[in-house]
Amino acid sequence: MQLACSECRAPAEADTLFCAACGGLLAFICNTTLSAADLRSLLAQRRLSNAHIDTSGVWRYRELLPSLPLEAVTTLRENVAPLYSASTGAAYAGCARLSYLHLGMNPTASFKDAGMTVAISHAKARGARVAVCASTGNTAAAMAAYAARAGLIAVVLVPAKGVSAAKLAQTLDYGARVIAIDGDFDQALAMVRTLDPQRTAIVNSVNPYRIEGQKTAAFQLLEQRDWQVPDWLILPGGNLGNTSAFGKGFREALQLGLIDRLPRLAVVQAAGAAPFVPVVQSGGQLQAVKAETNATAIKIGAPASWRKALQEVRDSSGTALAVSDEQIADARAIIGRDGVGCEPASAASLAGAKQLREAGLLDADADAVLVLTGHVLKDTAYAAAYHESSAAFANHPLSIGSAADVAQYIADLASGKLA
Ligand code: F0G
Repeated sequence: MQLACSECRAPAEADTLFCAACGGLLAFICNTTLSAADLRSLLAQRRLSNAHIDTSGVWRYRELLPSLPLEAVTTLRENVAPLYSASTGAAYAGCARLSYLHLGMNPTASFKDAGMTVAISHAKARGARVAVCASTGNTAAAMAAYAARAGLIAVVLVPAKGVSAAKLAQTLDYGARVIAIDGDFDQALAMVRTLDPQRTAIVNSVNPYRIEGQKTAAFQLLEQRDWQVPDWLILPGGNLGNTSAFGKGFREALQLGLIDRLPRLAVVQAAGAAPFVPVVQSGGQLQAVKAETNATAIKIGAPASWRKALQEVRDSSGTALAVSDEQIADARAIIGRDGVGCEPASAASLAGAKQLREAGLLDADADAVLVLTGHVLKDTAYAAAYHESSAAFANHPLSIGSAADVAQYIADLASGKLA
């Protein structure tokens, strides 16, 4: 695989992050010579294999990844993500055929693991001592876990305010050095970008190895669907690395002949952190904003991967839209009622599906996959506050009284007297 600039296509040097000629982000060019039929049969064989590397939903696609020495591969069996039907969510959005791709069912409970296994394996292969990232919480937890497995020191820069306590606790558990900065994610990432990538492994999604790992979520989704392409893939957007990764994965699957068309990408941002939406709708350069949203994972005002993501959205005839914090909160509660659950940022996908349906962009019978990026337990404080509030789908704990009243209540539920 060759590393080149994603904008001017100039070849790039190993272990750099930005193009020396134009400053653009780098990307790998996939040049496998395997046929679609050979790939499919290889993947089918690996499904039956118990070899550690084959049980990873990233490394089972290793012919489509930058090659790394096997002894450097650091895997926690990531990216084995279930696809669930979304009946309550579908009724809520007014669409018949929605499903959830739950990337929160990963070892550290977010989609970041798929990219991190590749970025940290590469860091280990090149002999880096320290891995660094800026994060709203999930990248931090993923990096900390994989760095611990690989024997690297993990240094995380997080905003002092607004990161969920669960994500922070996870990151501390995995032994990372956590530096709380007096600023937001955009400022933390700006600090990381001043570091020398040849001295420390910078593993934010500006690192092209991260994108290679995350693109396999597209392969994993398609494989579970027997290579049947959905009409839409709807996902939350923050720094926009994941949009560029899914887009790249689908494009490569098309080039390889594994699929015959691209799904349309719909990127959903929180209204207070939605600088990508006007760029998709009206063109021009991205204007950074001061991000404000309770969906703290996507509280990002200057997304680093916006150009790559824009290309993918355009190539797929996709779109971008913004939803309010209230719409995200209600959608999150609805996803819970499907017995699935997710963290707030993930629920932007369902809120977005509902809005796309109302705008007539999504047909009632469209086959749409909603990407759930993080697990419900990533932000229990948010969930608890929702259920204490007077929000539309709040589920208040009951205070019934005597044991006899409790027994009567349960009997009434059982007999159907109470719903
Ligand atoms: N959903 C969740 C749960 C996230 O944690 C993030 C990003 C996104 C969606 C957006 O993905 O940035 O690729 O567009 N979290 C990063 C972090 C910024 O530091 O954990 P994106």
